[in-house]
Parts: sequence; structure tokens; C-alpha cells
Amino acid sequence: MTIAVVGGTGTLGRLVTSELRTRGLQVRVLSRSAPEHPIDLTTGDGLGPALKGCDVVVDASNNSSRRAAATLVAGSRRLLEAEQTAGVGHHVGVSVVGCEQVPVGYYKVKADQERAVERGPVPPGRTAGPPGRPAGPRKRSRGGSRRCGHGCCGWRTRPSAR
Ligand SMILES: NC(=O)c1ccc[n+]([C@@H]2O[C@H](COP(=O)([O-])OP(=O)(O)OC[C@H]3O[C@@H](n4cnc5c(N)ncnc54)[C@H](OP(=O)(O)O)[C@@H]3O)[C@@H](O)[C@H]2O)c1
Repeated sequence: MTIAVVGGTGTLGRLVTSELRTRGLQVRVLSRSAPEHPIDLTTGDGLGPALKGCDVVVDASNNSSRRAAATLVAGSRRLLEAEQTAGVGHHVGVSVVGCEQVPVGYYKVKADQERAVERGPVPPGRTAGPPGRPAGPRKRSRGGSRRCGHGCCGWRTRPSAR
């Protein structure tokens, strides 16, 4: 299984990359400054070749500037379309718990990003809470949450809306 970590050079992305590699999984680090798989979510540059052959995408990209939506919302749509073209089967998004209750600034952008993922073409098409609460479908575990059933992360998740 090959997993692309978008934003794999960032704070969360580095940790995710390290954890996945510890589990023996093939990981590609994608970001503007990634030496092997440079991509830009605001333009789509590099996405096609970088995603070719990937089974799962973890989106740990971020932008907290006033232009956040260009990366997180439009960038997510661009990323999901490229994933669909590449045949990626599972998209893991990272969000901020309760962002939909704070419809201003960065939190509004994060809520818009969640909706873009939920409505996107790649299953399960949803996002999750802060780092440590990424999304995924399938196996149930205690508390009504589930564990990702794709053999990649095994993270505890919230049930998908679809
Ligand atoms: N840090 C927190 O405390 C916290 C809390 C709650 C939720 N989160 C969520 O966790 C996720 C990751 O946050 P973080 O703090 O780890 O972010 P971060 O450290 O700022 O890292 C951002 C990553 O995104 C990449 N990136 C930025 N713009 C890009 C673009 N146009 N195209 C491609 N890649 C781009 C950066 O690499 P390049 O510069 O090389 O492109 C970098 O790898 C976000 O969804 C955030 O909302 C974080």
C-alpha cells in the first residue's frame, strides 16, 4: 500500500509520515518543498504524477494566512479530483473540532474544507478533528467510533456522514 501525505513536510505531516513508515508502509511526501514529489495545491502542479499508484491520501496541508481558502478549500477540491483520476481509494482529512460552530476566519475555511471533502469524489469523503482524530471508515471499536479498515493507519475515527 502506498500512502501520499500531502503536507508531509509540516508539523503534523512529519509525524504522520514517521508513524506510517514505522509501520512498514510506503509513504510519499508531497508539498511545495518536497524534494521527490513537489506539488502545489493552489495550482494543481505536480499532483498527477505524485499521486500515480497511491492507494490512500492523508491531507495534512495547511495555510493559516488570509489566503487559506486557496490552499484548504480550492486546493482540497483540486486534490480530490486528482485523486479520483489517479484511482486513490481513500482520503483522510484533518480538521479542527467544532470549527463549524465558529464561522469566522480560519475556522470558517476549515468548515468549508470539511464540506468540500464530504462532497468530494473520493470515499469516505469526510474530515475529522484535530491532529490525532483523522477520518476513516469501516471497523467499529469502543465508544461507537471505528478504526480505519484500509490497513494503513488503523486510527480511531468518527463515523462517516455517508
Ligand atoms: N498545528 C495545530 O496545532 C493544529 C491544530 C488543529 C488542527 N490542525 C490541522 O492539522 C493540519 C496540518 O497543520 P500543521 O500545523 O501541521 O501545518 P503546517 O505545519 O503549517 O504544515 C503545512 C504543510 O502544508 C504544506 N503546504 C502549504 N501550502 C501548500 C500548497 N499550496 N501546496 C502543497 N502543500 C502546501 C507545507 O509544505 P510546503 O510549505 O513545502 O508546501 C507543509 O508541509 C491542518 O489541517 C490544520 O488545520 C493543526
